[in-house]
Amino acid sequence: MTSPTVKLNSGHQMPLVGFGLWKVNNDTCADQVYNAIKSGYRLFDGACDYGNEQESGQGVARAIKEGIVKREDLFLVSKLWNSFHDGDKVEPICKKQLDDWGIDYFDLYIVHFPIALKYVDPKERYPPGFTYDGENIVPGKASIQETWTAMEGLVDKGLAKSIGISNFNGQLILDLLRYAKIVPATLQIEHHPYLTQEGLVKFAKDHDIIVTAYSSFGPQSFLELDMQQAKDTPLLFDNPTVKSIADKHSKTPAQTLLRWATQRGIAVIPKSNNQGRLAQNLDVTSFDLSTSELDEISGLNKNLRFNDPLNVSSINPCPHMRGID
Ligand SMILES: NC(=O)c1ccc[n+]([C@@H]2O[C@H](COP(=O)([O-])OP(=O)(O)OC[C@H]3O[C@@H](n4cnc5c(N)ncnc54)[C@H](OP(=O)(O)O)[C@@H]3O)[C@@H](O)[C@H]2O)c1
Repeated sequence: MTSPTVKLNSGHQMPLVGFGLWKVNNDTCADQVYNAIKSGYRLFDGACDYGNEQESGQGVARAIKEGIVKREDLFLVSKLWNSFHDGDKVEPICKKQLDDWGIDYFDLYIVHFPIALKYVDPKERYPPGFTYDGENIVPGKASIQETWTAMEGLVDKGLAKSIGISNFNGQLILDLLRYAKIVPATLQIEHHPYLTQEGLVKFAKDHDIIVTAYSSFGPQSFLELDMQQAKDTPLLFDNPTVKSIADKHSKTPAQTLLRWATQRGIAVIPKSNNQGRLAQNLDVTSFDLSTSELDEISGLNKNLRFNDPLNVSSINPCPHMRGID
């Protein structure tokens, strides 16, 4: 089974269902990517910050070497980390990431956050995370315009086929659209029934920007980080509405949550460290929920966000914020 694709405003086709690489362990990552390709996954959502791009590339290389796929069958995504927003740092870091993957272009390269942090030399620390020196978060000086212009240069040079953004709100996108020569192909956002972001999703759709949902299972992903907010939130998998709709369609709650997104044209990139769940998560376009079922799930919205950089100290303690220097 492979995923259906959606056409991006760049003209390229993107699978609607992919595999997310955040928190995929380094020691198992290459095998997981390889096995996911064998299971039918074609899109892999990576990032500098996930610290596993070399291993992801090894999994890809093995699948290509064994003739399971060709490079052009895959849709490989990576992200520009906050420490590399300066205009002159975008291309070098993109090239480093391509080297890590062992490929010569990304299908999609995304600005991970609309947050510029002070440059950290990859020779000093990589991936750098949120801090400049392992302790302090130090803002950088690049505007989003400077960064986006450099991102457009990646397309011109063939290093990225499409470029996108992540964690941007509507106001920031409106501003970006004033100067963008290339409209972002995708917007990746936290999106699950506790955070439906309907206004932003409609805004993106109206501007021909495909939305990709991350953390589609809400609190589940953040339990792995031992986040208190996630522990305090009832699991979506146990939600009676989600469970009863899942039972009606003889699907799991996870599949139901993913279908709720894909049926509305929203791409998904669930992560699983388990081969069975990974296979299950790909089978999320072969059944349809009714309009009232979609609405019932949307009705669970609480505007509850788990991945908020302002809460970064709850994920990765780094207490000191310094002014721009
Ligand atoms: N742009 C951004 O800022 C951003 C932020 C967060 C995430 N992302 C991307 O989005 C991807 C997905 O988001 P995510 O990693 O936060 O979380 P997610 O895919 O919503 O959830 C992952 C959690 O759900 C479990 N799980 C997966 N499939 C399951 C199933 N069928 N049944 C039951 N449990 C299941 C996983 O456990 P097991 O592994 O044990 O199966 C894991 O605990 C990331 O990997 C990353 O690529 C992007």
